[in-house]
Amino acid sequence: MADLLIVTIDGPAGVGKSTMAKQLARHLSIPYLDTGAMFRSVAWKLGEGSWEWDEGRIQAELDTFEYALSGIGEDSVLSLNGTPIGNEIRTEEVGMWASNVATLPVVRSFLKKAQQDLGARFSLVAEGRDMGTVIFPDAPHKFFLDATVDERAHRRFKQLQAMNKPADLNELKEQIAKRDHQDRNRAVAPLKAADDATTIDTTDMNKEQVFVALKEGVACDTTGN
Ligand code: DC
Repeated sequence: MADLLIVTIDGPAGVGKSTMAKQLARHLSIPYLDTGAMFRSVAWKLGEGSWEWDEGRIQAELDTFEYALSGIGEDSVLSLNGTPIGNEIRTEEVGMWASNVATLPVVRSFLKKAQQDLGARFSLVAEGRDMGTVIFPDAPHKFFLDATVDERAHRRFKQLQAMNKPADLNELKEQIAKRDHQDRNRAVAPLKAADDATTIDTTDMNKEQVFVALKEGVACDTTGN
C-alpha cells in the first residue's frame, strides 16, 4: 500500500480532465479512475428523477452496486456489477442527472468508499471534482484544471461536431454554466481546488501544453524539487 501512487485531477465540466488523466496514467503506467463516470452510472441506473427518492430507497439500490477497475492509461476499464460502463452515460443530459445525484450525501458517501477502496488497491490518476479535497487528501500530486465557460463549451462543441452529433454552442454554454453552478455550490464536497493543488488555467493552452505541465508537475514533486 505504501508504494501506491495517487495523482488527483479536479476541475469543472468540459475542461479536459479525462483526456489528461488517461494520458498521464499511460505515461505513469497506472490506471486512471473517472469518478464522473461513477456518478453518471448511478444516475443512469437509478433513472431520471431518482434524486427525489427517499434516502432508504436510494441506499437499497446502491447496496447492489459493485465497481471494478482494470487496465492501464486510456485502456482502463471501469465496470459496474461486471459490465463495463459504456457510452450510454456520455450525454449532457446524463451529466446533469449525475450532477443532481451528486448533491445527495447518501450517494457521495457510497461512492467515496468505492473510490477510496480502489485507491487502496491501485495506483491511480483519479479525476473528478473532490479528489484532492475529500477522497484523496493525502495524495502527493494534486492538480486543478480550469478554463472559461466559453472555452469549455467550444471544446465540447468541436468534439460533438467531430462525432457528427448535433451541437448548439449556446445551449452547451448554458448547460455547462448550470452544472458548474450546482457542482460549486452544493453543501457536500463542492467543486474546488485543494489548498495544496497546482491550478492550471488551460484556457489558452493546447492539449500538449497541459500534458507537459502535468508531467513536469509530477516529475518535480517526485524528485522533491
Ligand atoms: O466529470 P463528469 O462531467 O463526468 O461528472 C458528471 C457529474 O458528476 C458532475 O457534474 C458532478 C458529479 N461529480 C462529482 O460530484 N464528483 C466527482 N468526483 C465527479 C463527478
